[in-house]
Amino acid sequence: MAERARKRIVVLSGSGLSAESGLPTFRDAAGLWNQYSWVELASPDGWRERPELVLAFYNERRSKAWAAQPNAAHRAIASLERHFDVSVVTQNVDNLHERAGSARVLHVHGELAFARGTGPSRKRYRIDGAPIELGQKCDEGTQLRPDIVWFGEETQHMDEARALVEAADKMLVVGTSLTVYPAAGLVDVARREADKVLNVIEIDEVPSGFRFERGPATQVIPRVVDAWTREVA
Ligand code: OAD
Repeated sequence: MAERARKRIVVLSGSGLSAESGLPTFRDAAGLWNQYSWVELASPDGWRERPELVLAFYNERRSKAWAAQPNAAHRAIASLERHFDVSVVTQNVDNLHERAGSARVLHVHGELAFARGTGPSRKRYRIDGAPIELGQKCDEGTQLRPDIVWFGEETQHMDEARALVEAADKMLVVGTSLTVYPAAGLVDVARREADKVLNVIEIDEVPSGFRFERGPATQVIPRVVDAWTREVA
């Protein structure tokens, strides 16, 4: 018997998904942008003015991310691949989706695991959990920087992400306040008839057509994944 075509799921994740792995969010009370200045730490101007501060900030985030473990929500998302064609579009710069077993992950805001030069070349260098030091250069002789999308820089893989969302039968949005564009705009290109779920703790406005599941991702996501799996298993 021919296998039925697998339904397509897109997961759009943000920092709240990794919160229960011990990594901070950005805009919650203890969030990074309530403690630090994004202008100093996440903008081309900040990098020009105090590169040593920017490197130290991302070196610390990288070492914390490498010490963290994927949580039950990351694992439940990875388990969807047994029954569905799954793509993860993440705003997160950690690698917890990959370490939980997700095979297709698009990092629209870059990855801590990579460095790149400050010249025009987009060549990336895998550094995994290692720090980047001032004075470390790329092949072309420019200072290495984190491969992180800073404010004012172009979000990565957006065309591919948009196409995946437009074709999805189901969309699961988790752990994002949906305030940073263009990534947040992906919820608007989902099909009207797609089954759409949003899981966060706080949100200003639930996007149209989404079922809102309030609560910690480690409790909510395994439940959503179970229900979706039961539909097809
Ligand atoms: P935010 O800090 O803006 O939003 C985090 C969301 O996660 C909020 O809606 C929280 O309610 C929710 N949340 C917190 N803990 C949770 C939990 N345990 N389970 C479920 N939800 C939880 O973070 P992002 O939306 O990820 O960009 O921020 C988007 C971008 O802004 C980031 O990618 C980063 C930042 O500037 C760059 O660095 C380029």
